[in-house]
Amino acid sequence: MPIHLAPVNRRRFLTRAFAAAAGLTLAPRLFAAQKKTDADFWALFSDTHIAADRTRWAHGCNMTDHLTAVTRDLLGLDEVPAGVFVTGDCAYDDGLMEDYGTFSNLLTPLREEGMPVHLTLGNHDNRERFWDALTAEKTAPRPLADRQASLLETPRANWFMLDSLEKTRVTPGLLGPEQLDWLADSLDTRADKPAIIMVHHNPGLLGKVGGLRDTEALFKIIRPRKQVKIVIYGHTHDWHIRQHESGIHLINLPPTAYVFEPEKPSGWVRAELGDDRMRIQLRCVNPKHPLNGETKTLYWRV
Ligand SMILES: [Fe+2]
Repeated sequence: MPIHLAPVNRRRFLTRAFAAAAGLTLAPRLFAAQKKTDADFWALFSDTHIAADRTRWAHGCNMTDHLTAVTRDLLGLDEVPAGVFVTGDCAYDDGLMEDYGTFSNLLTPLREEGMPVHLTLGNHDNRERFWDALTAEKTAPRPLADRQASLLETPRANWFMLDSLEKTRVTPGLLGPEQLDWLADSLDTRADKPAIIMVHHNPGLLGKVGGLRDTEALFKIIRPRKQVKIVIYGHTHDWHIRQHESGIHLINLPPTAYVFEPEKPSGWVRAELGDDRMRIQLRCVNPKHPLNGETKTLYWRV
């Protein structure tokens, strides 16, 4: 099981132990470190677009403030998720090494609370600079040498993190035949457990342009393999949930960063897995957004 940005709770543990020994009043966040991890709870982030410069704004949004608001919301919950996924466009625009430094630092509070963070890349990332900046990502075992793809096998589901970055700052994406072959083979040897596909680019369905160029090849693989229940993606900065005619659910995550239409939400998605479903809740950066708290249960196709 690959652990990408691994939890860094040792320092938190030592801090808490020191504070207790010294009779100090513990800050709320230190109490939070004692919260229980919920093995069925997963946090889904996308399109963080973090620039090296934390004061940077784009499209009316300070991306650092937004990611900080999202992490604060997650840290304020009663339960700790089993993991956090970020489906690409981690960096602001063209994937500078310094962007990934700031990005990693902003995720540190989550890792200090014991959350592993799993990453894949989008068209505003740069794979080589991402690996140069995040050496844990570079050295983590991965199935494909030249892609940030991974498989996370958990009790209720197998999570496939696919890497659709074809070229930095070129809008469409591509999985490529090697990654698709790996996906098909991996699904075939894991037919008995629900599979969740995570990828940056939106499938090129419903007339949407600028998405995944090899959508047809992807669906040729996942459509007949009934263990595939959901495809989760970002890229469009446009939150919505749909269902493909095959019964596969399609979740377009909101960006944590900016939206292109002012009424759309920024935020993250809380996902809870059950035997036959995923329950999702939208959590907006703006708590007054009309969609904040929207909840839906997606039942597995059979
Ligand atoms: Fe994006």
